[in-house]
Amino acid sequence: MEFRNVGKTYPDGTVAVAGFSHTVPSHATVALVGSSGSGKTTLLRMVNRMIDPTSGTVLIDDQDVRELDRVALRRRIGYVPQAGGLLPHRTVVDNVATVPVLDGTPRRAARTAALDLLALVGLDPALARRYPAQLSGGQQQRVAVARALAADPNILLMDEPFGAVDPIVRRELQDEMLRLQAELGKTVVIVTHDVDEAFRLADDVVVLRTGGVVAQTGTPKSIVAAPADDFVREFVGVDRPDRTLTTAEVEGRRVVVDANGRPLGILR
Ligand SMILES: Nc1ncnc2c1ncn2[C@@H]1O[C@H](COP(=O)(O)OP(=O)(O)OP(=O)(O)O)[C@@H](O)[C@H]1O
Ligand SMILES: [Mg+2]
Repeated sequence: MEFRNVGKTYPDGTVAVAGFSHTVPSHATVALVGSSGSGKTTLLRMVNRMIDPTSGTVLIDDQDVRELDRVALRRRIGYVPQAGGLLPHRTVVDNVATVPVLDGTPRRAARTAALDLLALVGLDPALARRYPAQLSGGQQQRVAVARALAADPNILLMDEPFGAVDPIVRRELQDEMLRLQAELGKTVVIVTHDVDEAFRLADDVVVLRTGGVVAQTGTPKSIVAAPADDFVREFVGVDRPDRTLTTAEVEGRRVVVDANGRPLGILR
């Protein structure tokens, strides 16, 4: 997936994205991070053509997405919207089965496949007959991920998928995501404002400033090692106590401690 000098100016004159270029390798996970209003959702939606860029091109397998049929494109690309986006009047299993049924899969087969997907994302099958409002936030997010995977897309776009859940569930969902990614190998673009989440999940991280301007792109390690400027340094919290590690010799072993002196592990 390639963003080639992509820009979006909304009709009211807001420049959401100025001129963004980035290539996402197949099967890789890239995270877009940046503060609120930095153009993350706009960028994501330009991939599946929910929004058309006002300049530049988004390419998938070297093909301009504008040359592809909108509906077909959205079925090829799984999308987990910022607020889950489940259909409130359909059961969990039918939420997952909807797109395959629209694509012509017989209802029964689509439901069976949906149950398998719900198991894959770690949702108790007993919940399949419930309605979205009868699930917890974390359970709803799992359903949203299962639904995005239902048409077996090569690409998965996720907009703050774990934003609305508590830190423990969030961590669980991240672990689930890592497991899924190892199993399925999709090309994933995940939007988050949580740098730690980006560092855990992504191969490459793009740090955005207001206006979709790239502050830095790199692997999590390279960004921590050499933040491009004070904005990135601050944003990724390079100087945070839990990222400022030293070692202390304790009973003959090198213990890694953070800036508050809390032990994190043993240096091997
Ligand atoms: N339909 C629209 N019309 C005008 N301006 C818009 C529209 N949609 C978004 N914007 C503006 O474009 C900028 C980028 O918005 P976008 O939703 O892409 O940001 P974001 O990085 O996803 O933010 P958040 O982290 O809050 O979700 C913001 O300034 C926003 O107000
Ligand atoms: Mg957004």
